[in-house]
Amino acid sequence: MGFFCLSDSTHGLLLFASLYANLTAFDDIFLYLVRRDPAICMSEYRSTIVCNSAAEAADLLKNGRLVAFPTETVYGLGADARNSDSVAGIFESKQRPTFDPLIVHVANESAARRLVTEFSPLAERLAAAFWPGPLTLVLPKRPEISDLVTSGLPGVGVRVPNHPVALELLRLADCPIAAPSANLFGRISPTTAQHVLDGLNGRIDGVLDGGACGVGVESTVLSLMTEQPTVLRPGGLPIEDIEAVIGPVLRASANSALDDAAQLAPGMLSRHYSPTTLLRLIEPDSFAIAMEGQKCGLMTYGPIHDNGNFSKVQQLSEFSDLKTCAANFFAALRSLDAAGLDVIIARRFPETGLGIALNDRLQRAACR
Ligand code: TXA
Ligand code: MG
Repeated sequence: MGFFCLSDSTHGLLLFASLYANLTAFDDIFLYLVRRDPAICMSEYRSTIVCNSAAEAADLLKNGRLVAFPTETVYGLGADARNSDSVAGIFESKQRPTFDPLIVHVANESAARRLVTEFSPLAERLAAAFWPGPLTLVLPKRPEISDLVTSGLPGVGVRVPNHPVALELLRLADCPIAAPSANLFGRISPTTAQHVLDGLNGRIDGVLDGGACGVGVESTVLSLMTEQPTVLRPGGLPIEDIEAVIGPVLRASANSALDDAAQLAPGMLSRHYSPTTLLRLIEPDSFAIAMEGQKCGLMTYGPIHDNGNFSKVQQLSEFSDLKTCAANFFAALRSLDAAGLDVIIARRFPETGLGIALNDRLQRAACR
């Protein structure tokens, strides 16, 4: 395996990434190679079933299978967080690098406490205010939580989803569920069961359909491992709401030089949520102009200000309501991406409330 790893620069970087993240290096590197190198890809075709009930999905999880399920933010790809083989399956099926840790979903605060060594008064206040809901807290992990879940980091991301189907699944499966968003790594997050199937059909065991996700962007990830609470990813819970409860928080900045390796905040890759179509951003108040000779699409909100030459327009919210924009965001991006356009022009959002998370997704989706 060592020979493989050092045989080219990507794999050299890989070795660095895994060592940096303090992983059990060769197992993880092998996993990564399995995903990255089609020549040694061992991923077998699985027939993906649409589960009829949470009980059916829970049985699959209990048997070590991978099941996508709805949350209020986006669909997650779930596995029993205590089962390392199943967790490894998540990375393989999503083609996700092992340096990007997984959020563990639990049914309530007491289940969260069982994953961590300390649940501080600050965590208590946040949990009381925002759980169940779109807030992931990174807290010091117990040693028995696998390094694969946390990518070797000392903290584990924990959240209680605010969705009746997810909560029922957690109750019936009776285990913590590790779940990233249920999309291929780097691609657009899924907000319906069909989106999940579009990306992962044949790669996972089941999907539980709970309709469209209401919030539409992923949870806000807040680390309590730092001296001052630090937002690692803006998301469905506005930062202002958090600050109203615990006072000022810091915002982690991405270091794109580390994109191929581990980051302190590994979710901060500069390129993510990517459509295959070129994406260009315009400012919130500017007039949208379709380029001549190009088949252009427009993603906007509020009154439509454009030169009328767009082939396809997605208006996220008639009245510029940011909640409605978030709920429709990923589905609109997918539908524009599927329309055979040369370029998608997207209007940035006001940098406030959910607009911060939406701009973050836009910025990374536009990165080439
Ligand atoms: O809303 C959500 O958060 C959805 C639903 C399914 O819960 N999940 C989700 O997972 O978006 P994922 O894997 O796509 O994004 C998780 C983010 C990543 O940016 C990851 O790096 C960060 O959370 N994260 C997870 N555990 C972490 C940890 N222990 N330390 C630092 N960052 C962590
Ligand atoms: Mg994701």
